[in-house]
Amino acid sequence: MPDTLEIRFPAAGVEAELAVTEATIRATDLRQFPVGGEPLATFDPGFMNTAVCHSSITYIDGDAGVLEYRGYPIAELAEKSTYLEVAYLLLNGELPTAAQLQEWELLITEHRMLPDKLKTVLAGFPYDAHPMTILMASVAAFFSFYPDAQNFEDKSARDLNIARLIAKMPTLAAFAYRKGKAKPYINPDDKYGYCHNFLAMLFKQNERRYEADPRLIRAMEVLFILHADHEQNCSTNAVRSVASSGNDLFTSCSAGIGALHGPLHGGANEAVLRMLREIGTVERVPEFIEGVKAGKARMMGFGHRVYKNYDPRAKIIKKSVEDVFEVTGVNPLLKVAQELEKYGLTDEYFVKRRLYPNVDFYSGLIYEALGFPPEMFTVLFAVPRTSGWAAQYQEFITDPEQKIMRPKQIYTGHRTRAYVPMEERA
Ligand code: CMC
Repeated sequence: MPDTLEIRFPAAGVEAELAVTEATIRATDLRQFPVGGEPLATFDPGFMNTAVCHSSITYIDGDAGVLEYRGYPIAELAEKSTYLEVAYLLLNGELPTAAQLQEWELLITEHRMLPDKLKTVLAGFPYDAHPMTILMASVAAFFSFYPDAQNFEDKSARDLNIARLIAKMPTLAAFAYRKGKAKPYINPDDKYGYCHNFLAMLFKQNERRYEADPRLIRAMEVLFILHADHEQNCSTNAVRSVASSGNDLFTSCSAGIGALHGPLHGGANEAVLRMLREIGTVERVPEFIEGVKAGKARMMGFGHRVYKNYDPRAKIIKKSVEDVFEVTGVNPLLKVAQELEKYGLTDEYFVKRRLYPNVDFYSGLIYEALGFPPEMFTVLFAVPRTSGWAAQYQEFITDPEQKIMRPKQIYTGHRTRAYVPMEERA
């Protein structure tokens, strides 16, 4: 027997049984209850308790601190996979065979170059433009170079444009970085894998061949795997929402980059570093914590809408911090972060609200140790998140249940008023 929710609404003299499927009721079933002439609806700012789609890409159990991509636990993927293998998994639902992976890596390698004219777009930005702004505008501009992305119903056109975007993101990110440093761009090198090539495009100087330390390449792979997808977060919702009006992959992902940039989402890693610098020393941590408790500041890198337990990604990043510091030397701000975490895990304010370190708490320390300025941190989140956005985009546009996104509102303004001529206005 199917589960039902019995609803009685005496004011309208209506009683009904709503079907409960997959632990949800259909919001449109509430329309049968008229309230003052309006059909009953739900009010849910921030989508606190509203499912907007069926998805088989990423599973999160926030209370238990579980994260899985296509059913594979994140810790195992971070230990055993490469980023491109994980991107393939997100997009196709299964881990690739050796032959499939080789073909996929080759496809991505083939598409790493940026269209030459994009360099004129990049040249138009001021030298100190935020690299996320450059990324967002350039990804939107891709659509003018690859207009076949509009044929998203055609699987081969869709696959090609997904590969183009995943392939070009590191190149774009590296160019944005080097532009800010007034350094010449380094083109991709086919001899390197995805993460090694990214490091080379970022950091190559005058040496004939750039060889990154294998520990740094692995740390990059791990960070990229951890950031690849995170189900219906703010930026994924932006991607799906923009796709819902019939947009191509590039326009939709450009919106995702904009959403990711905010300090409450991907921009938190940049905000964490700025916070750590501002605190500066372990001795100043108690004073900062008191400020947070008094509502004067937020502890950036702490708290999550879904995780009410330690973010499993933060646990893995903590281990990568040690690996990277072995190569780069220890970032002195690590001590400040560890002291903040100690308070966060024991102080009643944080414990009561179930606020734990999230993915952004330690990632900034790694990025800084690698020599990135804080404004690059969110770019380093956006590059790997592209595979998640692409998988979510693909799922959205092939889902017959989906419609143009169009939430309701509760109108609180004036109703039909007489127009006031200018001379009569106070
Ligand atoms: N520092 C201090 N207090 C906090 C924090 C924090 N970082 N996060 C939440 N709270 C408090 C908040 O003030 C509220 O307290 P009260 O009940 O007394 O009003 C309570 O905890 C619930 O917070 P909320 O803002 O209603 O929770 P939310 O689910 O809407 O927000 C969040 C989630 C991630 C935006 C929030 O925790 C936050 O602002 N964290 C800091 C920014 C951050 O690290 N963001 C990265 C998220 S992980 C990466 C990603 O996926 O984007």
